[in-house]
Amino acid sequence: MPGMDAAVNDYDIRVATTADAEALFRFGETLLAETSFFVRGPGERARSVGEMREVIERFDTLPHYLLLNAWQGAEAVAEAVAICGDFSRNQYTATVGIGVLADHSGRGLGRVLMQELDGFACDLGLRRLELTVMAHNTAARTLYKKVGYVEEGTKRDSLFVDGGYVSEIMMAKVFA
Ligand SMILES: CC(C)(COP(=O)(O)OP(=O)(O)OC[C@H]1O[C@@H](n2cnc3c(N)ncnc32)[C@H](O)[C@@H]1OP(=O)(O)O)[C@@H](O)C(=O)NCCC(=O)NCCS
Repeated sequence: MPGMDAAVNDYDIRVATTADAEALFRFGETLLAETSFFVRGPGERARSVGEMREVIERFDTLPHYLLLNAWQGAEAVAEAVAICGDFSRNQYTATVGIGVLADHSGRGLGRVLMQELDGFACDLGLRRLELTVMAHNTAARTLYKKVGYVEEGTKRDSLFVDGGYVSEIMMAKVFA
């Protein structure tokens, strides 16, 4: 398997640029094909490299948006996203999400990306990071709890996944 012996420090973590469009399109398709833990399925993140470039451009131009990836050589293997509220009343809250390719999971990338999101929150003076996670996604729920997120409630049967309804857990971290 590619990168089998890599440690977390062997990955390059950096903000996405439009030059990454092709690699990030490929990364997204791979990630969404190998897990059903995301709201979006394959083809629902970007339908083409061009559309991926537009997404990156949007993140690039908005200082309160973050698109961060972990790279092994020319291949993106993990991603963290943060999107702050656009209005005065929700500007101190960001919705976040992460994803790690299966071949690269269990090496600390998820934890490092969550720490990067904390750094983003700190830099922008945010009060709150929030996310939703499928109720049966034990690995992600465990990670989020370990890095300080608290479960705040359940969105019952909010998603229809692989032929059945799935509930989402709302989790958040509030910075004092
Ligand atoms: C869940 C996910 C983000 C974890 O990332 P990762 O890089 O594998 O996680 P890490 O190696 O940083 O592990 C951090 C902690 O997460 C927990 N964890 C990770 N994988 C786990 C697993 N398979 N089972 C249980 N806990 C797990 C552990 O508590 C671990 O802490 P430890 O190292 O002290 O044991 C990653 O596996 C992933 O992207 N999965 C598919 C998509 C997904 O679920 N995304 C989140 C949607 S809300």
